[in-house]
Amino acid sequence: MKRAPLSVLANETIGPYALVTVERGPLDAGVPGQFFMLEAPGRVLPRPMSVCLVRPGELAFLIDPIGPGTRALCALQPAETIHVLGPLGNGFDLDVERPLLVGGGIGIAPLPFLSERLGAPPALLGFRSEWHAEAAALVPNAKVVIEPTFVTEPLAALASHDVLACGPEPMLEAVRALAPDAQLAWEAPMACGYGACYGCAVEIDGELKRLCVEGPVLAAA
Ligand SMILES: Cc1cc2nc3c(=O)[nH]c(=O)nc-3n(C[C@H](O)[C@H](O)[C@H](O)COP(=O)(O)OP(=O)(O)OC[C@H]3O[C@@H](n4cnc5c(N)ncnc54)[C@H](O)[C@@H]3O)c2cc1C
Ligand code: FES
Repeated sequence: MKRAPLSVLANETIGPYALVTVERGPLDAGVPGQFFMLEAPGRVLPRPMSVCLVRPGELAFLIDPIGPGTRALCALQPAETIHVLGPLGNGFDLDVERPLLVGGGIGIAPLPFLSERLGAPPALLGFRSEWHAEAAALVPNAKVVIEPTFVTEPLAALASHDVLACGPEPMLEAVRALAPDAQLAWEAPMACGYGACYGCAVEIDGELKRLCVEGPVLAAA
């Protein structure tokens, strides 16, 4: 893990999201499911973001502007510089035989990188509107469902695959009920990102876990 000031190279709008590309500088890209702490201009604390795309010399993050930090990140312009720390946490275990990627909403953020590393396996993506579903273009080989259909509907017939999922908590709980061996990427508000503040501790099956070090990817079982 390293911290470096990185230049913003591009900011593209994809539906309601921003795909912010920064130079990679001296940082390792890590493995899919790992995350970086991005300095959010004007905010004291950095914000955790999954690495979405890795290209030579570049890292890209898909960001949903839901609050002050993410709105500041979505407003970044080329040539601005932000401090970035990472890669952090545990990513997905890529040693799987029949991968099936499952994502909901902004939870698709780590899936483009994951898809690339696994050779474009099938994916199921769920969104709340056609506008949000524009982000599905980032994930090859994807079947897309829009609410009121939930991603768990097509998943029911495919749950014998090795499921790797990221999305909102209710979606992850539903995925875990259908696919007990799934790997799930969870979220919690994070202040440090490397185990020091205990701000991200969550209770999972009666045990407290610091999601930034023991996750964000955890086995469903
Ligand atoms: C490991 C990890 C990877 C992430 N990857 C991405 C990503 O690739 N793209 C992306 O857009 N977002 C991602 N997030 C979520 C993102 O970090 C938060 O949305 C962001 O920190 C919110 O900051 P804010 O200042 O915009 O909003 P805030 O004002 O901090 O929060 C707005 C609302 O969202 C809630 N909230 C904030 N953070 C979280 C969280 N992590 N989980 C659940 N609720 C939260 C707050 O309680 C509040 O109600 C990730 C989070 C984690 C932990
Ligand atoms: S974010 Fe500080 S311990 Fe996890």
